[in-house]
Amino acid sequence: MTVSPEKLGPSYFQDPHPIQARLREQGPVTLVQMPEGFPAWLVTRHADVRAALTDRRLFKDWRKLAVPGAEVPADGSAADMINAHLLNLDPPDHERLRRLVTKAFTARRVADLRPRIAEITGALLDDLSGGGQNEVDLLESFAFPLPVTVISELLGIPASDRDRFRSWSDAVVSSVTSPERMQAAATEMSEYFTAQARARRDSSGASDDLLTALVHAQDAGDRLSTGELISMVFLLLVAGHETTVNLIASGTLALLLDPAAYARLRADRSLLPAAIEEMLRYTSPVNHATYRFTTEPISLAGVDIAAGQVVVVGLSSANHDPARFVSPESFDTGRDAGGHLAFGHGIHFCLGAPLARLEAEIAFNGLLDRFPDLALAVPQAELRWRPSTLIRGLERLPVRLGSA
Ligand code: HEM
Repeated sequence: MTVSPEKLGPSYFQDPHPIQARLREQGPVTLVQMPEGFPAWLVTRHADVRAALTDRRLFKDWRKLAVPGAEVPADGSAADMINAHLLNLDPPDHERLRRLVTKAFTARRVADLRPRIAEITGALLDDLSGGGQNEVDLLESFAFPLPVTVISELLGIPASDRDRFRSWSDAVVSSVTSPERMQAAATEMSEYFTAQARARRDSSGASDDLLTALVHAQDAGDRLSTGELISMVFLLLVAGHETTVNLIASGTLALLLDPAAYARLRADRSLLPAAIEEMLRYTSPVNHATYRFTTEPISLAGVDIAAGQVVVVGLSSANHDPARFVSPESFDTGRDAGGHLAFGHGIHFCLGAPLARLEAEIAFNGLLDRFPDLALAVPQAELRWRPSTLIRGLERLPVRLGSA
């Protein structure tokens, strides 16, 4: 008997957890149909997800998929150019690029951002409390502009162009984007960043933004080509737009649904770092890791998968696996959420994790300081989630600010 694959669609976007729980029960790896229409193998249990993320038989460079084992030359399109980034590369190409990027995107560069992130956060919160409105969309007015302004300033690209970045980024991660819209976004984006990079090359390193550091990053005589640079910037920009915003918005939602936790954190900020790890586990802003492929038949957690198949690694499912976390469906800011896989694992572990944690810490401290009575302004059932299997994020977060 052939079993038709589980279709991931609107109900999965709105709440993946009951479906993931059922799939975890059924088996370690399940054939699903992605919303875009193609089949994929979804890995759901924590131990298998962790193992899959370091499994060298799962590849990320899609060019190897077209002809198993062979390199297929890129066609030189804009989409090709922006897609040649870390998340689409395997060793040794991945290693080479990650080393170059790590030279520019240093821990020091991130730590130095603290005062500026605090300033941006303070200004956004001032606008909120001084705006004369008690009911606001916290996503639009706080959770989104904070990381977007930070990543734009870090890269050194004008924050005033943010509406364009947003529409490009949205086109790329949505599960309902047409190929034409995707292509148009890719073309505009690569033209924009090629011009920005050219200006940096000409200026011979005078500015100290990350884009300039990337242009000039060198490792044993090696450096990023223009294509590699453009796709790296694209990746940082998309990561800066699509992830931390959801940690802040969904984390706030979790706290608003647990007022005792909100009050506890207000009273004792030393609890905040652990609470942020629990937010990462519980809300899992990246629902599925990016696609991986098989190039030969493999057995994954005992399930046979043919060559040329897509494998989807379920990060949020792993983070809600009762075999790893006690009562995973309860949001418990006091638990040790260590071992969560919200930032991935292995060679593709999130490069921006320290920045995301820093932004979250400053954002939550700011909210807790300013708004003791922050509350959800609509019933929870009215909240809608974005139509993406990759990203788990709210469309809006209407809140009442209360007395500031
Ligand atoms: C809460 C916020 C964030 C979450 C939950 C998150 C999550 C992730 C995950 C799960 C991966 C691995 C994906 C995979 O293996 O398929 C990843 C990779 C990556 N992230 Fe993040 N991310 C966040 C914020 C950021 C930020 C702010 C940046 C940059 C400014 C960033 C840059 C990257 C990069 C460059 C990679 C690719 C690393 C590689 O392939 O070597 N991320 N992120």
